[in-house]
Amino acid sequence: MKLTVVGGGSTYTPELVDGIAHRLGGLEVDEIALVDPDEERLAVVGPFCQRLLAAAGHPAVVRTTSDLERGADGATAVLLQLRVGGQSARHSDETFPLECGCVGQETTGAGGLAKALRTVPVVLDIAERVRAVAGDNTWLVNFTNPVGIVTRALLEAGHRALGLCNVAIGFERWFAEILGVAPENVYLEHVGLNHLTWERGVLIKGPNASMDVLPALLQERAGEIAERVGLPVALLHRLGAIPSYYLRYFYQHDQVVAEQRGERSRAEVVADVERELLRVYADPAVSTKPELLGKRGGAYYSEAAIQLVDALVNGGGASHVVNVRNGRALPFLPEDAVVEIPCTIDTGGAVPSPVRPVPPAMAGLIAHVAAYEALALDAAVHGGRDRVADALLAHPLVGQHEKAERLTDSLLAANAAFLPWA
Ligand code: G6P
Ligand code: MN
Ligand code: MN
Repeated sequence: MKLTVVGGGSTYTPELVDGIAHRLGGLEVDEIALVDPDEERLAVVGPFCQRLLAAAGHPAVVRTTSDLERGADGATAVLLQLRVGGQSARHSDETFPLECGCVGQETTGAGGLAKALRTVPVVLDIAERVRAVAGDNTWLVNFTNPVGIVTRALLEAGHRALGLCNVAIGFERWFAEILGVAPENVYLEHVGLNHLTWERGVLIKGPNASMDVLPALLQERAGEIAERVGLPVALLHRLGAIPSYYLRYFYQHDQVVAEQRGERSRAEVVADVERELLRVYADPAVSTKPELLGKRGGAYYSEAAIQLVDALVNGGGASHVVNVRNGRALPFLPEDAVVEIPCTIDTGGAVPSPVRPVPPAMAGLIAHVAAYEALALDAAVHGGRDRVADALLAHPLVGQHEKAERLTDSLLAANAAFLPWA
């Protein structure tokens, strides 16, 4: 099969190709098309990916192109992993909200909205063009942030799409490691929206039944868990669940803002890592994945993608955490919201697994952010200052009128080059 990666010039791409090279899962990939407008990047990343495959004895061919139609033609699955505006736009997302006392983050709050506004129209255009050459049956696996909003945009436009993030697989692998069990035997009761999730149960499959080890984990290893997610032990006990580290932007918002004011932005740090990675990739003597790639946030991203595409193409009914249309899974949300929950994956797509009733402290925040996401998508698709201000006012990390108005002005000023209507 042919696998196409849009945003294939990303420094993350070798992670994915390395996973394919080492034949994780049962995918028979014979062609990997890397599509990117940045031909200089492609000229470095493409040959490096080919060396990774060759070194592992994998026969797949890597093709690089800046021509989307050519790259997508004949693809069985298309991974979307782009970053409109690159790290410099990300730096803006991570800094402009700080002036209003709000967190600077590329996927949540005002920065996340800026990213959604820049990204949704580009991804929708790409998806239409992919559909025109590759047909209706091609799967779109969306890694592009903000994953919840972008995936919802794709679903509303009628695409065969799923959204994917590495937070759940990161927990799955970590619990498997510290408990000494196989990752396939870990089932997470993962609930929420992308980058707004909690682990409410960690079920370990035994020979006859599954056992929830979350209470024991919180009893015995709360310190380690707290350190991993960057939140206090007392909060974990209060919640009786494990929030993802993205919940720190909510539960410790003001503290994060104070820290961010004295730090380099993540975009600046990542830009340095990327420069170094590209230098290594360009060295024809290197044909293994560099350690430095582990300094990026996307650990296990390749495994998550490969497992998912494998299940979509070959079936098998495995359970994976993905971003899907809510339907009736979380009854307190509209059916067309996009949620991040465990699903059974088959060639027909993802079927949400049943979710236990969600307690008010989680359900309230999920519903609040889901309402913001609906308004954010509306702003991204239709444009206009009022829609941007409506979305910001609805975001739990903004909420106040003056802040929402000021953030609207700074967001639009910083992103004018990307928003034809601004
Ligand atoms: C995690 C998140 C991704 C995000 C990434 C950022 O993997 O799940 O959604 O894109 O972190 O990593 P970076 O190294 O770019 O900060
Ligand atoms: Mn993510
Ligand atoms: Mn899994």
